[in-house]
Amino acid sequence: MQVFQKKDTNDLLNRTSPLKRTLHTWDLTFLGIGAIIGTGIFVLTGKGALTTGPSLAVSFLIAAICCGFAGLCYAEFASMAPVAGSAYTYSYISFGEIIAFIIGWDLILEYALGAATVSAGWSGYFVNLMNNFGIHIPKVLTAAAGTTPGVTTYFNLPAFLIILLITYILAKGINTTKRVNDTMVIIKLAVIILFIVCTIWFVKPQNWKPFTPYGLYSFHNGTAAGVIPAASIVFFSFIGFDSVSSSAEETINPSKTLPRGIMLSLGISTVLYIAMTLIMTGVVKYTVFAKFLDAPILAVLKATGQTWLSIIVSIGAILGMTTVILVQLYGQSRITYSMSRDGLFPKFFGEVDLQRQTPYKGTWFFGIITAVTAGFINLNILSELVNIGTLTAFILVSAGVLWMRHKHPEIHRGFRAPGVPFTPIIAIAFCLLLVAGLNWETWLRFVIWFAIGLVIYFNYSYKHSKLRN
Ligand code: ALA
Repeated sequence: MQVFQKKDTNDLLNRTSPLKRTLHTWDLTFLGIGAIIGTGIFVLTGKGALTTGPSLAVSFLIAAICCGFAGLCYAEFASMAPVAGSAYTYSYISFGEIIAFIIGWDLILEYALGAATVSAGWSGYFVNLMNNFGIHIPKVLTAAAGTTPGVTTYFNLPAFLIILLITYILAKGINTTKRVNDTMVIIKLAVIILFIVCTIWFVKPQNWKPFTPYGLYSFHNGTAAGVIPAASIVFFSFIGFDSVSSSAEETINPSKTLPRGIMLSLGISTVLYIAMTLIMTGVVKYTVFAKFLDAPILAVLKATGQTWLSIIVSIGAILGMTTVILVQLYGQSRITYSMSRDGLFPKFFGEVDLQRQTPYKGTWFFGIITAVTAGFINLNILSELVNIGTLTAFILVSAGVLWMRHKHPEIHRGFRAPGVPFTPIIAIAFCLLLVAGLNWETWLRFVIWFAIGLVIYFNYSYKHSKLRN
């Protein structure tokens, strides 16, 4: 069938790219850490701890295992087809156009909605920090309407502005993006290490008992609780490593550098997450986080009496989330750039400014839409929609590795995922486990998003696809 027409890997590799190649392994690792560590650890750990108690670290470990196996599959694909577009391009090669479109559409959900979600977390820490300095942003402008029950809010001004600012940086070019990202990631890592060193001494092992108050999966007060549902929530913390693969056309020696960047950023983030969650649930009883859902880290600092550290950690959290937004919007612009280049999206999104060497029109278009979304829409519930979209992309990439090994073993791979077929199968099994931990409302929203995508595909992309024409 025509909708399943596939791209040829050799055609992809022989194409020249107008984007600039400047990124090395450590740039990619920093890009990865920039994209990974953010709202998940600084905000969602509160909800995660209430969902599973001290076993939150185990939930993080499950999400990390899922991402580790999926990461190996991403790395193999990235080394086989080091071109922009990430999972979108990989699906085009393995499964054909319509699946590629669906994944591209899915990635828009992951990156644009993800960036908007993170900006809401960013705004929470920013408003808090400003209050510490005696600057009070009017309450009605600190969140979208309906975000906090009992509090009147209309518009999230800080979230709106930070997205516009980051869009401006991205449109200026990859070198500016890299410099801004690297500096902020170093500060973010330093703050996390400072937090660990200053709080580890206050851990009281009795706070870890009982370790799994809700078991693996149960219902508590009408919602899913336990280690698996918490893993489905904190999976958000690992989203982002895949955006490293979006930078294939801006990377030096991508078939070696991309796999290293992906695995290093994932490994470093996992170690820091496990340490932080063990400390957080060890310093205070997990139930305490109910009062600190916006900024759970501050509950820990308050308990240790180190309020001086709150300001430093808040700055680290703000910078941390800034880089997440930066990399997500970056990935977003590169996905729509690739889809436009293939004719599945209008030309506008693929136009590259020759001086800055960035797809600046698409960058601004999605930047503005994301900023308005962040300003007006209550994003509390949407992080789980981002999770299901990303898990679906992971499943297809892992299945793609299985398929390509079987169908095209001859294609050169700079990196081969170890343990195939088990590695992709384990990745798929873990992804399905995490999808199962999400609630049915999330599944329904995802089906609606998917249906809108199909309408666009059959009304626009199908007719304009370059591969078919
Ligand atoms: N992993 C990113 C975060 O936690 C999306 O903010």
